[in-house]
Amino acid sequence: MDVLSPLEKKLLIALEKNKGRISPEKSGMELVKTMNSASWLQSKGLVEVEEKLISEYELTEEGKKFLEEGLPEKSLFKDKEKEKIGEIENRMGKKDAKIAIGWAKRKGWCEIKVENGEKYVVITEKGKKEIERKQEEEKALEKISEGDFEIDEEILKILKRRGAIREKEKVKRIIFLTEKGWEVVKSGIEIKEEISQLTHEIIRSGEWKNKNFRRYDVRAFSPSINIGKPHPLSQLMEKIRKIFSEMGFKEIKGNYVESCFWNMDALFIPQDHPARDMQDTFYCNKPEKVDVDETLIKKISGIHENGGETGSKGWRYSFRMEESKKALLRTHTTVNTIRYLFMNPNPPAKVFSIERVFRRENIDSTHLPEFHQIEGIVYEKDANFCMLKGILKEFYNRMGFEKIRFRPSYFPYTEPSLEIEVMWMDKWIELGGAGIFRPEVTYPFGVKEPVLAWGLGLERIAMIMLGLNDIRKLYFSDIEWLRELPLL
Ligand code: PHE
Repeated sequence: MDVLSPLEKKLLIALEKNKGRISPEKSGMELVKTMNSASWLQSKGLVEVEEKLISEYELTEEGKKFLEEGLPEKSLFKDKEKEKIGEIENRMGKKDAKIAIGWAKRKGWCEIKVENGEKYVVITEKGKKEIERKQEEEKALEKISEGDFEIDEEILKILKRRGAIREKEKVKRIIFLTEKGWEVVKSGIEIKEEISQLTHEIIRSGEWKNKNFRRYDVRAFSPSINIGKPHPLSQLMEKIRKIFSEMGFKEIKGNYVESCFWNMDALFIPQDHPARDMQDTFYCNKPEKVDVDETLIKKISGIHENGGETGSKGWRYSFRMEESKKALLRTHTTVNTIRYLFMNPNPPAKVFSIERVFRRENIDSTHLPEFHQIEGIVYEKDANFCMLKGILKEFYNRMGFEKIRFRPSYFPYTEPSLEIEVMWMDKWIELGGAGIFRPEVTYPFGVKEPVLAWGLGLERIAMIMLGLNDIRKLYFSDIEWLRELPLL
């Protein structure tokens, strides 16, 4: 008896009063305390806890409407015993009229009669009686709305079919006394004082010597607590910011709406490049155009047409100045770094950005029309391709990706160029592109030293780190999933 805490004793008394069985919600104590005591009593062999999956129901919007306004087949016969179908449709709306007539017919409350080529709904004797009475469905809806689920199976089936209720599964627990539990209860229970918090006074006075101490149960039931936390993508961005900051980079920001000039022309992307197509890029209606300095455009147009003084031959086509001013949603954040170089043509510089870009992609498990890029440049004397690979490797290692590799690649604005891949579940997955800006890109802005540049996908990293096989999950706002996720 004295190994029982006051709460355990209270629960035993409640059990005795309830003929040995009780649901935790009805013990008269807090749920946490009840479950806590139950688990102690269980470990002492005095009670068992039975868990059952039970079905509960809740009203759908439709169900709530039925409950408030009555079943539609009742309101079908508001004050007429006979009415044209067309009129009913006008009164109730086509959809509701169809449902109401359907059910009234099925229940034998009405007949359809044709007179002079017109269809009428005519109430039957049964109908007259029934619409005055509360229907079984209505009684059931009332019960469900009050949390009472003891309802006839057939009625539940009908309500489900009518889309009035939906099922939720719940774990139902019952605590019951074992034989040994009954013996203890029968021998009489007396609730004594117990020490749950040891104080200075209790020790000094020696009071502790003849009192019981409350014990801790680390396996005790406790409700889960959902604390607020940033979305995993935000956490990831924060982590990446920290890594680049630790590596000596400064963060820069840009705009969603950009000109073709900065998004493409300045990066030596020819005006007929497929990525510029309406199929791939979102162009804006408002504003349709963005102001760009014409002398700048002229300079770049020369580079595109014949290479200017860069030693390149250019793309050899006639550049259209008007095209440069077209407004678009930036398709990559390389637009941030090229603009930064234009504003800051003198080395050294190490900057990065983590921002959103837009592409006309069809949404599927690996594509989104909006996503984020991790962009960056290192601009300094003697910067080289090995350094670029070193920086990228360092970044991914710090992110926890051990095995990465580089492959030769192509971008109109870099030479040489590379692609980064990571090993994930025995497969190489592409993470982004990088390279050294070509003279056609840097020269017109007076940028004289090599610029190492990269643009990496953020969502891809998130998918790998969170073990997702569908990129859309990141944007579903699935609250259960978000709660379960550990902090990154
Ligand atoms: N802008 C490229 C992309 O969107 C990535 C990249 C950035 C490649 C910088 C080379 C240099 O895929």
